[in-house]
Amino acid sequence: MDSFLIHGGYRLKGKIEISGSKNSALPILAACLMAEGKTTLKGVPRLSDIDSMNKLIGELGCHIYRHEPAEKTVGDGPNLNGPLDLEVRDETQCEARYDIVKTMRASICVLGPLLAKRGKAIVSIPGGCAIGDRPVDLHVRGLQKLGAEFRTENGNIVGEVRGRLKGCRMYLGGAQGPTVLGTINVMCAAALADGETVLVGAACEPEVVDCAEMLNKMGAKIKGHGTPEIRIEGVDKLTGCEHRIIPDRIECGTFMIAAAITNGELELKHCNLDHLIAVTDRLDEVGVKTVRENGTIFVSSTRRLNPVEMTTQPYPGFPTDLQAQLMALLCLADGMSVITERIFPDRFLHVGELNRMGGRIRKEGATAVIQGVKELQGASVMASDLRASAALVLAGLVAKGTTRIDRVYHIDRGYEKIEQKLVAVGAQIERIKETKAVA
Ligand code: EPU
Repeated sequence: MDSFLIHGGYRLKGKIEISGSKNSALPILAACLMAEGKTTLKGVPRLSDIDSMNKLIGELGCHIYRHEPAEKTVGDGPNLNGPLDLEVRDETQCEARYDIVKTMRASICVLGPLLAKRGKAIVSIPGGCAIGDRPVDLHVRGLQKLGAEFRTENGNIVGEVRGRLKGCRMYLGGAQGPTVLGTINVMCAAALADGETVLVGAACEPEVVDCAEMLNKMGAKIKGHGTPEIRIEGVDKLTGCEHRIIPDRIECGTFMIAAAITNGELELKHCNLDHLIAVTDRLDEVGVKTVRENGTIFVSSTRRLNPVEMTTQPYPGFPTDLQAQLMALLCLADGMSVITERIFPDRFLHVGELNRMGGRIRKEGATAVIQGVKELQGASVMASDLRASAALVLAGLVAKGTTRIDRVYHIDRGYEKIEQKLVAVGAQIERIKETKAVA
């Protein structure tokens, strides 16, 4: 397992190109199982989670080819990677094995597409993970309302459809609010169902909108995406299309905080500030300035960071996926901040690690009280999940001395070339390969 060594205290300055969104690309790749003919996806980031999804849809009969990247950025977005061509050539397999599902919970996204297109799906039940229990009951309930029948067998969800799924009006929210991947799963299935489906209490996240827009290019008839009520008129078939994945708002937000925490100045290219309105609102109060010019965001901060209160919420509220990173920043604010986690109430594994670096954070249930300190100190810390690990990188960038972060495979799941991007703007960060780390 690789580690990062970070020598803190360097001000970041320069340009960073934002990658395509991991959380948009994952369900979109799964949705490609429903299309006939070739689909070309641009902006799919190179990440271990994407490799896992490609492996999964590959096992489900989808042929995937990655082109070489274009020499330089052209046209409508970044070209860090070449486009992906996808084409389903065999529809006989219907199983998502535990081996893959246990490494990536987003494997559940194949459930709706498989049921709608192949009439059968066997998906290993994802277990708990570092950020909480993460049930999939809302996915199953929504698909049941469309007519799928489910049973549990040896740790798998086995779903079957007699004939064709049937559209209906349903409420999709749960105790914690809407579900992002659940909305996408049911929306995908409803795209090929018989008649109209209305999803009430749908998630409004940009990733849902991106998937709906791709499905519409494939011939689906979806309206209202981006609002809590999505209307889907079922069609008989979907055909391949060309689509560019939206920029990764969480990667962008993480680099905005990197600029702020190092008192630096970053120019973040190919991003969509509209997707980050709640984040810029909080950062503005902290004292972080963001200026937008076309698809570029310029971020700079005042030396003094103000404490703030923040509660994570479904979109357009502050995203849970940036909670840990904001907490790292607030460790250095001038006073006491309060963060409440409403989406995943247990998502606080970073608290103990930030405290090892000199943070003063006290957790009370789903709330963390952060007393700002003058400086953080380098320490050996452990990455526990993707976003918690990003918070440790941010803390390491500003900490006095050297920070060693073990188990950075968590970061590799969701941040494309993070150390190269940071080094290019002045960070001192080095990857220690597993063999060297053990020696
Ligand atoms: N929930 C249920 N039942 C369900 C599904 C969800 O009770 O069947 C609950 C969850 O436990 C949670 C809330 O509903 O309390 C919202 O969870 P949601 O379903 O929206 O999460 P998700 O779709 O599984 C995606 C992202 C997460 C991100 C959340 C919330 C992907 C691959 N994952 O997960 O991203 O935190 O939405 O925005 O898109 C990450 O990238 O680090 C990450 C964890």
